[in-house]
Amino acid sequence: MKLNDALTARISSAKQEHLLRYFDALTEKEQADFAAQLEEVDFAALPELVENYVLNRPHITIPDDLGPAPYYPLSPRDDAQKKLYLDAVSCGEKLIRAGRVACLTVAGGQGTRLGFDGPKGTFPIGPVTGRSLFAYFAGGIRRTEKKYGVKIVWYLMTSRLNHEATVDFFRKNDYFGLDADQVFFFTQGTMPAIGYDGKLLMNAKNSLALSPDGHGGTLLALRKSGALDKMKRDGVDTISYFQVDNPLVPVIDPKFIGLHHLTGSQMSAVMLAKTNAMEKLGNFCVSQNRLQIIEYSDLPKELAEKTLPDGTLAFIAGSPAIHVIDRTFVETLTAGGKLQLPWHRADKKIPFIGQDGNLVSPESPNGVKLESFIFDALPLAEKTMVLECDRAEVFAPTKNPTGVDSVESCRAMLIDRDCRRLRSAGVKIGDGAQIEIDPALAVDAADVAELVAARNISEIASGEKVVID
Ligand code: UTP
Repeated sequence: MKLNDALTARISSAKQEHLLRYFDALTEKEQADFAAQLEEVDFAALPELVENYVLNRPHITIPDDLGPAPYYPLSPRDDAQKKLYLDAVSCGEKLIRAGRVACLTVAGGQGTRLGFDGPKGTFPIGPVTGRSLFAYFAGGIRRTEKKYGVKIVWYLMTSRLNHEATVDFFRKNDYFGLDADQVFFFTQGTMPAIGYDGKLLMNAKNSLALSPDGHGGTLLALRKSGALDKMKRDGVDTISYFQVDNPLVPVIDPKFIGLHHLTGSQMSAVMLAKTNAMEKLGNFCVSQNRLQIIEYSDLPKELAEKTLPDGTLAFIAGSPAIHVIDRTFVETLTAGGKLQLPWHRADKKIPFIGQDGNLVSPESPNGVKLESFIFDALPLAEKTMVLECDRAEVFAPTKNPTGVDSVESCRAMLIDRDCRRLRSAGVKIGDGAQIEIDPALAVDAADVAELVAARNISEIASGEKVVID
């Protein structure tokens, strides 16, 4: 097979002829597959990307007027705010009951830090049962459905690298008690990895080294997959967004949803008070009246460490990547099937095939992966809202096997949360008890109190392992 002339011309004008080094030796089928992959690459845009993100490092400019973002505090400041929060809860509940809210989980990442073989959502995080991350969210959705008498659709973003394995896992687990038609899988885009010399890397003679294009890819993927159309048909206008590695997150939080709606926000965000100036969370900031997140690595130290007269951090607001997004906002952003959020550069060890055609696994970073981030949509919104939440109730990321933000810390936080709820329902719990409440039975303290009363639970002994299901 001969590659079409237009594509060949695009490849050479981007100085990427090395991609065709093995082409003639491939089988017809391999050639066709590779040609299809190459067709998807925007070679016209490549030289600029290489110049700005690979040969040079993108320069982050910190605006002169950058200030900390305002937010709604965890505890209401005054009576008016107290009333607003109560109104928000009832507004949120009304929206959920009316079927206007859907869940969206981004599960397309590669989870390299966790080093787990399989899609991250299949990781057995349950501290006692080993139930998977996906099972936690499905359980939360089932309980929310039951509470509000409504069917909730779960939009689940995969990448080409983990799509099949993810769908298989759902099939094998009977969709965790959900109906198959209420889980809408869709796949995000990919970006080719670029070597430090500006050449696209190949991981086989007939394949580019491709990786998912970042969670910023969610927005365009929602449009391209027909998810936005489905939401519109179903009467869904509000999207509850969370990441696959945070099983502590409430899949839908009525107060957050309601406050988003009452403030007329197009995209809202949960914030947590950072535990220290350099904590590895994105920082909520404002410039020119627009909300934005500046990554911890990009916020100058003097700003990160700046304090208010009472000694608290000025830039206290950290992002756990929990959002509420209006469907119409995504529709507007992706109109015409286009959206280019800024790229972020990550230096990675990327396996590639060398001159001799053999695969090389480098021991140090050899190239760049480009990703876009969903939070870069925040400054594009006319109206945003940030709500402070209690970390212990919403954020236990599973990024690493041990240490900070790890499987260990996540399991401990899941146990603590359940213990807290049981204790406040009057249950006595001995030290070291390991408890796991089926997420399909409880999404909040009131649910746990009901369970405790219905099952007459009064005491859990020290060191006991208990599953409440
Ligand atoms: P992370 O930034 O933690 O990346 O993703 P990751 O790929 O899961 O893990 P590492 O960095 O390789 O260890 C945060 C969330 O965004 C999703 C992930 O699945 C996770 O829910 N994500 C990330 C995507 O859906 N697509 C992407 O391209 C990147």
